[in-house]
Amino acid sequence: MPEPSTRVSPEPAVRVEVATGAAAIAPDVVDTVFDIDDLSFWYGDSRALRNVSLRIGRREITALIGPSGCGKTTFLRCLNRLNDLIPATRIEGRIDFDGRPVYSRDISVIELRRRIGMVFQKPNPFPKSIYDNVAIAPKVNGMKGRMDDLVEESLTRAALWGEVKDKLKDSAFSLSGGQQQRLCIARAIAVEPEVILMDEPCSALDPLATIRIEELMTELKADYTIVVVTHNMQQAARVSDRTAFFSVEESDGSRAGMLVESGTTQKMFTAPGDQRTDDYITGRFG
Ligand SMILES: Nc1ncnc2c1ncn2[C@@H]1O[C@H](COP(=O)(O)OP(=O)(O)O)[C@@H](O)[C@H]1O
Ligand SMILES: [Mg+2]
Repeated sequence: MPEPSTRVSPEPAVRVEVATGAAAIAPDVVDTVFDIDDLSFWYGDSRALRNVSLRIGRREITALIGPSGCGKTTFLRCLNRLNDLIPATRIEGRIDFDGRPVYSRDISVIELRRRIGMVFQKPNPFPKSIYDNVAIAPKVNGMKGRMDDLVEESLTRAALWGEVKDKLKDSAFSLSGGQQQRLCIARAIAVEPEVILMDEPCSALDPLATIRIEELMTELKADYTIVVVTHNMQQAARVSDRTAFFSVEESDGSRAGMLVESGTTQKMFTAPGDQRTDDYITGRFG
């Protein structure tokens, strides 16, 4: 069989392999989960995001890339209102999740965070057993039905069941870093979210554990929308369908994170529309 061609331009901007599946992705988001319009964010007087507009597609992996401090984490945490927990912050603009405003008085933030799960940079399992890490949130949410089944199903979906099924009562801390991160993904999945936000989920993991998580992300995409922050260009190119490139820019006398451009990962890595994107992904900057 001939090698599938994944490059749209004869001179790729960076020598990374773009996932072949990405070729099937429509140039524009068709089924929008998040519609972000003119989003700005401040910590006190300091602006972190300036006028960001972006759409996130359902059952796609969207990668957020850009230099440190350009607001990727802030942006991610706006989506499920985690920034609400930080005092003296301010947000402007609009985020619609499934057609409804995230920042509205009548939205239940608890329900919102159930529907939009999060996985952090450093695996952060609870100091409890493997079983309890997965079972605790559904239990608190008043889950009815067989907990054992839910735990098994969540761990299976997180590609961890085979490794832990005989030691479910062991402490989560007995697992390796990569296993702990998959446990955190199982914990997120257990409350049946629609979206999983991941903030540099592999940055504390070794290369093999990283590959495991990347494979898992590709599997999870069948059922979930994933937004992942990564500083690893190869990872963005390997796993994501779309890429959004952020940068810190000076404007009106202040520096703030902004979205330079977004598009299919295929296009962003082979024929970016902006020189700054090209410089970043080829390692000339950032
Ligand atoms: N809790 C916070 N309080 C004050 N400033 C913050 C806080 N978190 C982030 N910032 C600032 O906001 C900007 C964007 O940070 P962040 O979203 O963490 O960027 P990234 O994830 O791209 O590295 C940075 O200038 C950072 O110092
Ligand atoms: Mg960050």
